[in-house]
Amino acid sequence: MDPMTTPPRPPERPVDALSVDELAQAVRYHNWRYFTLAEPEISDLAFDALTRRLAELAPSHPALFELVTDTASGEKVVHAEPMLSLDKCYDDATLLAWAKGFDGPVTQTPKIDGVAASLRYDARGRLVAAVTRGDGTRGESFLANAGYIDAIPKMLSGPPLDASVEVRGELYMPLSVFRALEGGFSNPRNTTAGAIKQKDPSRTAVYGLHFFAYDVRGPAFETEMEKVAWASAHGLVPVETERLDTDAMAAGYARWQARRDALDFEVDGVVYKADRLDEQARLGFTAHHPRFAIAYKFQGDSATSTLEEVQWSVSRTGTITPVGIIEPVELSGAMVSRCSLHNLAIVEQLGLSIGATVLATRRGGVIPHIESVVEPGIAPIVIPLTCPSCGEPTVVDGDFLRCSRPSRCPDVIRGTLEHFVKAVEIDGFGPKVVAQLVQQGLVAEPADFYRLSVEALMPLERMGETLAGRLVGNIQARRTLGLATFLRSLGIDDLGQVVSETLAQQLRTLDAVLAAEVATLEEIHGVGETIARSVVEGLTERRPMIDALLAEVRVEDAAEASAPAERSDDDPIAGRSFVFTGALLTMPREAAQKLVRERGGLTPSSVTKTLDYLVIGDKDSPLLGEGKLSTKHKAADRLVAAGAPLRIIRESEFQAMLDAGAGPA
Ligand code: IVH
Repeated sequence: MDPMTTPPRPPERPVDALSVDELAQAVRYHNWRYFTLAEPEISDLAFDALTRRLAELAPSHPALFELVTDTASGEKVVHAEPMLSLDKCYDDATLLAWAKGFDGPVTQTPKIDGVAASLRYDARGRLVAAVTRGDGTRGESFLANAGYIDAIPKMLSGPPLDASVEVRGELYMPLSVFRALEGGFSNPRNTTAGAIKQKDPSRTAVYGLHFFAYDVRGPAFETEMEKVAWASAHGLVPVETERLDTDAMAAGYARWQARRDALDFEVDGVVYKADRLDEQARLGFTAHHPRFAIAYKFQGDSATSTLEEVQWSVSRTGTITPVGIIEPVELSGAMVSRCSLHNLAIVEQLGLSIGATVLATRRGGVIPHIESVVEPGIAPIVIPLTCPSCGEPTVVDGDFLRCSRPSRCPDVIRGTLEHFVKAVEIDGFGPKVVAQLVQQGLVAEPADFYRLSVEALMPLERMGETLAGRLVGNIQARRTLGLATFLRSLGIDDLGQVVSETLAQQLRTLDAVLAAEVATLEEIHGVGETIARSVVEGLTERRPMIDALLAEVRVEDAAEASAPAERSDDDPIAGRSFVFTGALLTMPREAAQKLVRERGGLTPSSVTKTLDYLVIGDKDSPLLGEGKLSTKHKAADRLVAAGAPLRIIRESEFQAMLDAGAGPA
């Protein structure tokens, strides 16, 4: 907060009678009295009560975060105790030999391929330090950026502390978010490292980072499992932890291997620790690693091959990305011949040439990429002077090559349309169908989809009347769009899932979003100046496309989230929160969310420990058959295992709840 402005005085009512806004006002006011004026009006205890209540109702409220922004990000910080690395092994026999060295069970956790970080909370539960691992002895503060990572509580919840606590864990970028990013990002780990170094800390929010805690230091514990329970009870997200007898380790490892491809984060092995801390103390450390822990690594998924040519692919934003075509090799079970090279600068940095022997890796579940050159080739790589899609001149823009006339470039138009159908979930319109529609001149902008008829579709390849009818039906079913979905569908660079949801929650109506100026947007927590500018520019540029769309679709205002109804015994929906996953059989997801909100329920966007119900849609539901667990489902399973009261229910159970308190129609 600007120290020169005087915050408004909060209402004088008991803590329990204050709304979120009033609590925030009170926290800001008393924080200002304490730090700026050095004239506190209330006791530390009373101040704690305010911050705790606010943290309970709105754990990520910016007012909590303003308490702690006094350490400059980027400053070097010495770790209380060094952050060591782990000993590694690659087979069952070595793992079993390690486990012979101590008594008792082990804990098993996935080894997350992210960025290690240490958080410190003071005795009042406030986040006071967030530091990267660095070289193990000294890391870098990213405290200001940590304010924009939801999984890092700014204030611990739950039972009060006796003293300060250090929490260690792994920052990572969900693969779903990584895959949606465009251009220039080699892998999720490097992107995570970059995300917490953003000079404008609010930019960190764009990367939707998460944090899994794997260690708690300070309180007296006897086992690793107690640390996990402590972390959950205080609002942190512990890494999924199981306690196993040592003879069950090999099977446990195989389970993680089997789950690996379906996870929303990168895992490069499994970490085992002696569960008993007295055994840990007895074993102690070498200079590099603890003896009580070991990482059983997955086999590497890299291979060498020869670079045959470089193709240039034009993205929906007009960036022209090099793609390396290599002699096909097998990487983690799949034959691979196309490797993303991300941007121009990377081609130069790698010193790439045609015919070079290269090391290719497959990470992030995305297109594989070229890690390094093992041996140089014979011919240089020629950077195209004209756009391979439209033939207009190219321009070099920093690390990137771009088409100089994207608004007329066919690949940009196709990319924009593909993005639109994906974002608004119109089934049946894959890249091949979209390409044909563009080629036949049937669709040039998103609004055109809504004007397609069965007759118009019939001439397309492999199209029959039934399929054409179904496709038109799928389009017609998406004439009402939620505000966040609509914003995201526009394909504006910085207006991805995270920022779209933030804007929808804060501004509520499309009119408000379209009317917002940079100054308004940058005030919003999670937006900041850079994003605000790019969003305003993007919306202005796409105004004709937006107006055309609005002639076809209705955009729903975001629901009021601030005033949930009371929980009531008569109505199982009122005052409870519901998150939906998977496809519902009885209605579109947005309709279900709307019904919940109309009944005074809440529909948060993600699964957290304060959630009441996760509803699994009955279509291909894993609760009913063989369906795959969604990321939300897995997150909920973890929370339930850690003791959260959240319930996972079927669509039919949700239907019964809707019917239960509905009263006379
Ligand atoms: S336990 C002595 N558990 O792996 C360190 N570490 O090579 C004890 N890591 O930098 C760490 N996932 O950040 C532990 N489930 C997990 C982990 C994990 C990732 C990282 C950790 C450390 C590196 C050690």
